Amino acid sequence: MAAEYRAINLSQGYPDFPISSELISLVDHYMRNNHNQYAPMPGVPELRHQISNKLEHTLDQNFDPDREITVVAGATEGVYAALTAFVHQGDEVIIFDPAYDLYAPSVILSGGTPVHLELELPNFSINWQELEASITDRTRVLMINNPNNPAGSILTAEDLRKLSEIVIKNDLIIISDEVYEHMVYGSEGHQSLLSHPQLRQRGIAVFSFGKTFHATGWKVGYCVAPEALTNELRRVHQFVAFSVNTPIQMALADFLKEPDHYQSLAGFFKEKRDLFLGLMKDSRFEPLPCEGTYFQLMKYGSISDLPDQEMATWMTKQHGVASIPTSVFYQRKTDNKILRFCFAKSSDTLTKAAEKLCRI
Ligand SMILES: Cc1ncc(COP(=O)(O)O)c(C=O)c1O
Repeated sequence: MAAEYRAINLSQGYPDFPISSELISLVDHYMRNNHNQYAPMPGVPELRHQISNKLEHTLDQNFDPDREITVVAGATEGVYAALTAFVHQGDEVIIFDPAYDLYAPSVILSGGTPVHLELELPNFSINWQELEASITDRTRVLMINNPNNPAGSILTAEDLRKLSEIVIKNDLIIISDEVYEHMVYGSEGHQSLLSHPQLRQRGIAVFSFGKTFHATGWKVGYCVAPEALTNELRRVHQFVAFSVNTPIQMALADFLKEPDHYQSLAGFFKEKRDLFLGLMKDSRFEPLPCEGTYFQLMKYGSISDLPDQEMATWMTKQHGVASIPTSVFYQRKTDNKILRFCFAKSSDTLTKAAEKLCRI
C-alpha cells in the first residue's frame, strides 16, 4: 500500500540509508578473488571464528566456532531450522504475543501447536503465573524474542533468571531471537540468553547480520547453541539451505574485526529514536517506551477509535505515512489501538513523516 499510495514507508523493518561502503568493497574484493563457490555447511571458518571473538568481546563468554556456531541464511532460516529440529508432531511451543510472524507457522509446519500467551501492557511484561499454568507435558520449546519486535521491550536479567527456573524445571528448550541485540538503549544493556549460564546450556540464540549491518537483503545470520543442539540444528540447515553465500561471509569476517562496527549501533539508533520522538512531541500520538529494536509504538486513542488495521490503512491513503497495526502480531488479533513505526530511516524521511503525522 505504501508503494501504491506513494506514502512514506515506516512500516517494514528495513533501513532506507546506505550500508557501509567498506563492507561493499570487501564483498567486491572476495568476489573478484574467487571466493564464489559453496561455503562449508556450518559457515566459512573465518566468519565463525570472528563471531566467536565477537561473543567473547560483547558477552565475555567463549564459544567453540566449530561446534557451537552455525552461519545461516538470515535469522529466518535460523529460527526455522531450530524449531524444525526440536518440534515434533504434537509438541507445544510457547510464543509470547505480540510476536514476529515467523514463529507460529514454523511450529505448525513441524506438526507442533503454538501456545500463544500475551505480554502485558504497558511494559509488555511476561505474566509468570500464566506461563507456569500453560506448560503441559507436551511443552517442548519456549520461544523468546529479545529485544521484542514489535513491542520495543527488552528482557531483564531477572526475567532470564525466572525463565531459566521454568526451562530447567520443565526440561524445555529455549530459542531466543536476538536480531536486535545491538539496538538496546537502557543502561542494563542487552541480556543475551548466551550470558546466562543455565539457559546457555539449553538454548539456541539466533542473530542477523542483515539487521546489524543495515543489509537486510543479504540474508545472513548465525545460530549459537551447545554442541548437541547445534548438531541437530545443522541436520535441518544442511537440507534447507546447505550453506550461505561465500563472498559475503568472507567480507563479514573481516568487517567484524572492528568492534566499533557493531558497538556504535545503539548510539546511532538511539539518536534516530530520539529524533523521531522529538519530532512527534506535539502530535496527538502517544509514544510507548522503546527500550530496544528500531520500532516505536504509538497509541492513537486520542485521534480515533478506528480498529488499528483500518487506522493504518486510512493513514496510508489519506495522510501518506505507512505503519503497521500491532493486532497483526497477535494470534487473537488483539487490538490495543497501537501502531508500529520503523525509525531505521534517514533524518529526512523521519522529518517528512513526522510533519505529516503531526497534522493528523
Ligand atoms: C524479530 C525478528 N526476527 C527475525 C527477523 C528476520 O531476520 P533475517 O532478515 O536475518 O532473516 C526479523 C526481521 O524483521 C525480525 O524482526
